[in-house]
Amino acid sequence: MSNNESKNYKLGMIGLGTMGRNLLLNMADKGFAVTGYDKDRKMIAKLEEEGQKHQLEGFDNIDAFINSLQTPRTLILLVPAGPIVDSVISELKPLLSKGDIIIDSGNSHFTDTNRRVDELEKDGLHFFGMGISGGEEGARFGPSMMPGGDKDAYNVVKDVFEAVAAKVGSDPCVTYIGPGASGHFVKMVHNGIEYAIMELIAEVYGILKNGLGYSNEQIYEVFKKWNEGKLKSFLLEITAEIFLYKDTVSSSDLVDQIKDEARSKGTGKWTSEVSMELQLPIPTINEAVSNRDLSKFKQLRVTLEAAFGEKKTATDINLDDLENAFYFAMISAYAQGMHLLFQASKEYQYDLSLQEIAKIWRGGCIIRAKFLEDIYQAYDKNNLLEHLFGDDGVQHIIKDCLTGTRKTITACINAGIGVPAFASTLTYFDTITTARMPSNLIQAQRDFFGAHTFERIDQEGTFHADWNKLS
Ligand code: 6PG
Repeated sequence: MSNNESKNYKLGMIGLGTMGRNLLLNMADKGFAVTGYDKDRKMIAKLEEEGQKHQLEGFDNIDAFINSLQTPRTLILLVPAGPIVDSVISELKPLLSKGDIIIDSGNSHFTDTNRRVDELEKDGLHFFGMGISGGEEGARFGPSMMPGGDKDAYNVVKDVFEAVAAKVGSDPCVTYIGPGASGHFVKMVHNGIEYAIMELIAEVYGILKNGLGYSNEQIYEVFKKWNEGKLKSFLLEITAEIFLYKDTVSSSDLVDQIKDEARSKGTGKWTSEVSMELQLPIPTINEAVSNRDLSKFKQLRVTLEAAFGEKKTATDINLDDLENAFYFAMISAYAQGMHLLFQASKEYQYDLSLQEIAKIWRGGCIIRAKFLEDIYQAYDKNNLLEHLFGDDGVQHIIKDCLTGTRKTITACINAGIGVPAFASTLTYFDTITTARMPSNLIQAQRDFFGAHTFERIDQEGTFHADWNKLS
């Protein structure tokens, strides 16, 4: 490229793996002049081949790549989260100028993003954490995007993001989330909710398969039917399809050949860790994280099943009740995630708009669901709503689901079918809707053995009792 031709591109992508390449192709489709960089020439060849129509250019020389960008330069990193992000930043820093913007679109931990924002601010560089959801398809044809950082810097790239994001009606599934690491924080909580819904669906699968003895085809039918109603969601839709997939190695369905040991990359665990830090309970998400971990103890489970005997069936479970139980638990998972965002917004001064977040989760992302429209409406009515259970419309839905939920969970418990996410969700609901919890006793116990004091319901101040001296 000659000097005359340089400084043409509006945005540059670093990391041309499938996600980076697809997002770049999406931008090019929308008419933006964009370019990519990767150390691996094979990745550049793939980009140039798939982007032939747009004459998409790729670089393996970082100086030439940086020189090809308009100023202020906008760079998106789509590289694995962790130390690689820091090493890419170190390589870039000497080549960049004040006002340039680096956007990290991996699933980075928000505390790493905080550190990077502070470090780069000293050099006059803007660092953005931008969660992207929707997987490879989403990146190519419309993801949901959660950018956080300096608001003025966001306005430089807003047009690109709004053009490539998924649309619900004419609303793009992207919005400015807030300052600092808020974009990555919100994406982390999105993933926590994703873990919870996946676990709930897996527990329903367990109930249908082990409790009711359904075949894969029958399970497909149940999920497909549910996905045509109030439960319509991306995760239910893809789950239904899984049950139709035939294995090419054996003669059975592929799902039956997959080991029952779930893996994870950590975003769910981070959500649970932060919730403990902020003392804001999200038990459905916690159970989802724990149950992935429990699944890895295969040999122990095999041994203990032999010791305690196989599970019973639970033929008294009714499908309509199960559908309501799932709806109730799914709503609760969203409610817990939103509650965590509410608390984090105060704690970290993110000034989040839960209404805007619900709005951009309605399309493109993994947790997109019909119910997100209800969540959006709830925050549209009251953007300061502390908890989704406080909304009239949501209360109405929950009241309708409760009988079926209790019957289903009781039947599972009686049959010995493990439903940790369902059971803890119901008990969370029963506790958060209890005006006077038995926690006064914990205060009394603490004061008894440790003189930790307690507060009284009828007087201000802290008190201590001489518990050993019976009155
Ligand atoms: C998304 C997903 C995605 C995440 C996968 C894998 O929103 O597109 O959240 O970002 O990487 O879901 O997560 P685990 O490997 O932890 O299940």
